[in-house]
This record gives sequence, structure tokens and C-alpha cells, in this order.
Amino acid sequence: MNLTKNEQEILDGNHSKSTKKAMEILVALGTIFDAEKMIPISSVQIAGVSYSNLGDAGLKFLTEMADGGGKALVLTTLNPAGMDIDNWEAMGISEDFAEKQKRVINAFARMKVITTCSCTPYLFGNVPHFGENIAWSESSAVCYSNSVLGARTNREGGSSALAASLTGRTPKYGFHLDENRHPTITVVVENQPTENHEYGGLGLVIGKKLEATGKKSIPYIKGIQKASVENLKSFCASIATYGGTALFHMEDITPESDSFSPPKESFLVSMNEIKEAISSLNEPSHKEIDFVSLGCPHLTINEIARIAELLEGQKVTKEFWITTSRPMKQISDIAGYTKIIEESGALFAVDTCCVVAPIRGRFNTLATDSAKACYYAYSKNKFKTVFLSFDDVVREAIK
Ligand code: F3S
Repeated sequence: MNLTKNEQEILDGNHSKSTKKAMEILVALGTIFDAEKMIPISSVQIAGVSYSNLGDAGLKFLTEMADGGGKALVLTTLNPAGMDIDNWEAMGISEDFAEKQKRVINAFARMKVITTCSCTPYLFGNVPHFGENIAWSESSAVCYSNSVLGARTNREGGSSALAASLTGRTPKYGFHLDENRHPTITVVVENQPTENHEYGGLGLVIGKKLEATGKKSIPYIKGIQKASVENLKSFCASIATYGGTALFHMEDITPESDSFSPPKESFLVSMNEIKEAISSLNEPSHKEIDFVSLGCPHLTINEIARIAELLEGQKVTKEFWITTSRPMKQISDIAGYTKIIEESGALFAVDTCCVVAPIRGRFNTLATDSAKACYYAYSKNKFKTVFLSFDDVVREAIK
């Protein structure tokens, strides 16, 4: 790779021990992907924050990077951790786990990373604009930033995202290059979905069809006349989970979609297929539901407002986690939604989610509106799943 004088000095160890390590990671990555050079980035989002994913090896790496003098050079936020940093006891988290998780967060804080732990940083200030080069790592947020905001990022690993933060650079390859952002297949959606879980079903259908092509396809999606932020975050999480998609073009929604013509190769998606996909994530019996969760990806303030509306004057009958970012919870506090929700017995699980928290085997069946949460509830935590509309999930909690 061609490095600038400054980049070479960092690599030679003329700055801190951690920035040298960070540059080594980026050069290794750039060499693997044949990048010609590094480019400056303006925003980072780091995944791999939960101690349940990092383990002791990850904690040791982060502690060494913090001890080695690394400091974030650009706006950097974190993905969800394994617990609510303030209210972990209410979530049933052990003291040992909490202590290790706090050390993880502390290591990031010492590196001047903003420790808002959320997969939707684009809702509260980490909002790159069209054409901006960034280095994000949470799969749903990567898909959202490339496809809805029109920013440019590869799907970084936790360590390459941290390396980008400490140097303000990333190797120029993949989705940072114009030629790699062209759509390769057209997807015609026959009927407009409306509910979040229908967008989750749509992401599942498209994702699986793309996987079946055996190619790393970039879909050009036609037939969606309008979609809310909530719909799109649900769709991004699902298509990233089931198809490994980091970039799609949605006609009239993706900022750069009008720079391309729909590719000739195409397939259709019918509402029946979406309904079948939804059924495929539903266990036949609702009787065993003992865990309800909304907020995968993390909730918007509109969604929290709707939960408060549905829960007002009600009592929940099952463990109900409302997962969102701390800034969104603070808006909810101001607006009075938190009081209503907590009076119902539902629990705000801020900074975390039902996938990255260490709850394997603790529940039998999860009810959610997230296709991504269904996938990991089953594969990681061994829960059965019931996949419902947003409102029906809340109704299930008070049944
Ligand atoms: Fe976010 Fe956790 Fe879902 S990180 S996308 S809420 S699995």
C-alpha cells in the first residue's frame, strides 16, 4: 500500500504504541483487499462491545489499546453492550459479568470513544451524510448507512473499526470505491409492506434469494413507495442477517439510486412470500411466551411513544424488555413515556439488547417484531420465537 509520510510514521511507532498497532491492523486489511491507499474517515461505530462476545481475550486487547495511549481521532460510538450499564441488576446480570462489562466500557472511555452503546447511532448524532467515508461495524447500521444515508462503509470488525478510530483512516477498498457500489440484480416488490415485521419478512425473503444466487449481489429494489425510518431499520437488520447485505439501492429512497438503471437480471417478491417468511419464524404455540422484547434495532422515540400509548393503565404479565439507546431513553424521560412504561412493569434495558445480553437458556419463547432478533434468539440463545407486528408484541406482553 502507498502510505503517506504521516501514516508511515504512525506505522513506525513514532506516535503511540496503540496507533502503531492500529495502523498495522489497517495495513494488513488493506493488503488483503488490495487497497491502493488509506482514506480519511469522519465517523466510526464499533461492534463487539458485549463482554459475552469479547470474553477475556477481547477485554485484554482493549485494555492494552487504552494503556498504549490510543485516542479516538473522529466521532466514535459503540454498539450495544451486554447489559444496561446503570440498571444491570434489574436485568438479572451477575456481578462478575457486570464488573467485566464495565472494564470494557472503561477501556473505550479512556480512548475517548463516546460510550453510548447503540446500534442506531444515526438517531442521535452519529449521522454521516451522503458520500461520506466512514468505518462502521454493526451489520444493520452498516446497511442503513450505506443504503439509506448514502454514506460509504465496509462492514468492519470490532478491531478494524477501533483501528480506524485511532488513526482517522481506513483502507480504500470495497464500498468506498464507486465501481463496487453498482446494483447487480433487480428486485421487484409486488405489494408495499407497511408494518415493521413485514419489512423484516421482506428482508428475509430477499436475503435468502440473494444468498441462493451464490454471488455477492447488490439489489436494486423497486416497488416501495414509502418507508419510515422504523421500517427501514427493520429491513436493514433483516436483509443483513439473512443475506449478508451491506448495501442495497431502493428506488427513490437510497440517495444514489437515481444514478443507476435497474439491472436486467431480476426476481419478484410477492406478499405471499413475505407472509410465508413471517410464519417460518413463528412457533405454533403462543402459550409458552415468557419473554417479550422490542428494540432490535434500538427503538426510535416514535416507537417508545407508541409503547407508552398501548401500555397506559396496563400491567405486563411477562418479562418485557424495551431496548434502546440512553439518549432515546432520556428523551422518553422528558416526554413522560418512561413513567407510563415503567408503571406497567415493563423494563427499559438501555445500552443493550436481547441478543447481546448473556441470557442463553433463561427463557423459553421470545415474542418480538424483529426478524433479526428471531434469528439470534434461536441460534444463539436457544429460544423459540413468535414473530408479530409491533402492536401485537405489546399486546402479548399484557395478555
Ligand atoms: Fe441492535 Fe442487538 Fe438487534 S445490536 S440490531 S438490537 S441484535
